[in-house]
Amino acid sequence: MALKITVIGTGYLGATHAAAMAELGFEVLGLDVVPEKIEMLQRGEVPMYEPGLEELLRRHVAGIEGSSGRLRFTTSYEEAGAFGDVHFICVNTPQKHGEYACDMSYVESAFDALAPHLTRPALVVGKSTVPVGSAARLAERLAAAAPAGVAVELAWNPEFLREGFAVQDTLHPDRIVVGVAGERGEELLREVYATPLAEGSPFIVMDYPTSELVKTSANSFLATKISFINAMAEVCEAANGDVVKLAEAIGHDERIGKKFLRAGIGFGGGCLPKDLRAFMARAGELGADQALTFLREIDSINMRRRGHMVELTREALGGGGFLGKRVAVLGATFKPDSDDVRDSPALNVAGQIHLQGGQVTVYDPKGMENARRVFPTLGYAETALEAVRGADVVLHLTEWREFRELDPAVLGDVVAERRILDGRNALDPALWRKAGWTYRALGRPSA
Ligand code: UGA
Repeated sequence: MALKITVIGTGYLGATHAAAMAELGFEVLGLDVVPEKIEMLQRGEVPMYEPGLEELLRRHVAGIEGSSGRLRFTTSYEEAGAFGDVHFICVNTPQKHGEYACDMSYVESAFDALAPHLTRPALVVGKSTVPVGSAARLAERLAAAAPAGVAVELAWNPEFLREGFAVQDTLHPDRIVVGVAGERGEELLREVYATPLAEGSPFIVMDYPTSELVKTSANSFLATKISFINAMAEVCEAANGDVVKLAEAIGHDERIGKKFLRAGIGFGGGCLPKDLRAFMARAGELGADQALTFLREIDSINMRRRGHMVELTREALGGGGFLGKRVAVLGATFKPDSDDVRDSPALNVAGQIHLQGGQVTVYDPKGMENARRVFPTLGYAETALEAVRGADVVLHLTEWREFRELDPAVLGDVVAERRILDGRNALDPALWRKAGWTYRALGRPSA
């Protein structure tokens, strides 16, 4: 009989995973402790913006016309325990308040709530990003609390999906990593991922700690790449070099590669920054802190970019204060094709300028609602054109396609001054300069 799957936690990761499992042909039950979220999902609505996810969800949610009916949602752990053969834990692990370490309380509550309902053999699969050592500890806790005892196994299966590409990354993963303690876990996960495996996705089996480390080291490597190129941007600025050309040139070396070498205002979001910090905290607990002290530097290079962008803006405005100056900000989300503003460099820069007296007006294609919630005192406009009206300087801070397609001549007619700072190195300098704009970008010569 086909496996039945539950997905616990229906945020970014869980909602996408649940819909993807239904797409792969399984009966799926999604669980969340927030009833409003469950009601939305049951109606086929996704609580965030993620390209393609709503369509995928609507193809499978029971009760929606024409759907496969394979996907349902609940708030009941009892129902989840009775339903599933494989239970995916997809709750989030945010940074602890006032500490580097990650907050494991959602993971722990999910395990504690599920375990008493596991009365028959089952596989619990952790997908959340956790400090190394968690899986071994949770496996013991699970075996002790589940009525089925050792017939309940644990596997760790980290997730590498990117926001904006979540559906694609989940249905066609570039690798499937599984940390297991026994053979049953591997067998069941091979069954769950049979379709991507048949397509050729590599399946890499290892122990618990290695699987946990794969996730945090992958994100640390990506962050290191970004901070490396941003450090080069700082040197380029000092030496009047061009970091975009530099990145292109070093990227041709296959050992270096072109991806993740886009210099700008740096990385943000709900993953990279907090994962770096949690990794450092955990290494400290293990007595291996020296191995990761370089990540502290990666973090500070990254945070420095935001301050630097504020200073460049001040310079562009003549070097004085921001009082009485109108600053248009294009972009609020931490990256394009997402409505996520968690630790967003764009919103951080907008906020800093606003707090120093600048009159900031923000426009973002999808992130307005979330941005308003986090930063209600900023000005918001309904379109890019409205945002730049009367601006003394325009800041391009999230590289949405919509911004690359803007006509500099049209914008030029409504601004007070034709000055643009490209915080993402994504606009075409020649195009803007031709239309009479002073274009400046991070890590590039000013003219
Ligand atoms: C990241 C990882 O890329 C995923 O593999 C991982 O699964 C995910 O975290 C996670 O742990 O859940 P995501 O947070 O969606 O994914 O964002 P990225 O695409 O990695 O971008 C992160 C930040 O780096 C963004 O603010 C982006 O603007 C910035 N970035 C990216 C740069 O500044 N330069 C670049 O060259 C690339």
